[in-house]
Amino acid sequence: MKPQIIALDVYGTLIDTSGVLSLLQELIGEQAQKFSDLWRSKQLEYSFRRGLMNQYVDFSIVTKEALVYSCQVFKIELDADAINRLLHQYRILPSFDDAQQGVELLKQSGHSVYAYSNGSRKAITELLTQAEVLPLLDGVVSMEDVKTFKPNPIGYQHFCQSANADPQNAWLVSGNNFDVIGAKSYGMQAAWLRRSNQSVIDPMGFDPTITISTLTDLSNALDQYLS
Ligand code: 2OP
Repeated sequence: MKPQIIALDVYGTLIDTSGVLSLLQELIGEQAQKFSDLWRSKQLEYSFRRGLMNQYVDFSIVTKEALVYSCQVFKIELDADAINRLLHQYRILPSFDDAQQGVELLKQSGHSVYAYSNGSRKAITELLTQAEVLPLLDGVVSMEDVKTFKPNPIGYQHFCQSANADPQNAWLVSGNNFDVIGAKSYGMQAAWLRRSNQSVIDPMGFDPTITISTLTDLSNALDQYLS
C-alpha cells in the first residue's frame, strides 16, 4: 500500500468546538446550545464571505465577529470580561476522544499526517499541543499562508504543495462537509468524518471518497480502500 498524505481538519474534526458549551451555560443559561450552534455557523459563513470578498482577517477575528453577531440576535449583553473568557475558551478547546489514537494509527500505517485549518498556525499549534497530538504530526498547514479560507481551491492546492503531495494521494479528512466537498472539487481524495448519523452531505455532486464515523476507523478504512 502506497503511504498517503493526510490533511486533518482541526475545528470540528480533531478539536471539539462544542467545548464552549459549559462556559456558555454558566454565562447565558439554557439558550447555550442554540447560541453555540449559531456562533459556529456564523463563524463559517463569515469565513466564506470574507474569502469571497478578499477580506482576509485572522480566523480568531472571524470567531469574535460571529460571537458579537450571536449576542445581538439573542439580545444578550455580555461584558468585555465575558467576551474575553469565551474567546479564551476557544483557544483552549478540547480534542475529541478519538483524535490522538486516530493519528497514532495513521502514523503506524506509514502515512504522513498534517493538521490543515482555517485557524492560524499559532492557534492550531497551541490547541494541538494541549491535545498531545502535535508531536505525532508531520506538520501544520494554515490558511493564513494564503490569506483566504476554505473551501477556496487555493487552500487545497497550498496544502498539496506544502506537503509535497499529488492530489490523487492526498486526503482531506473532515467532519465539516463543506470542507470534504471543497477538497473533492479541487481534486483531492476526501474522508468524511460523520460523527452524527443526523449529518447529511450537501448534494452538490462531490461525494466523499470514503465515510467513517470515528477517527480511529480511518486507518483501516484507508487500507481497505487502497487494497
Ligand atoms: C478548520 O479549518 C473548517 O473550521 C475548520 O479547522
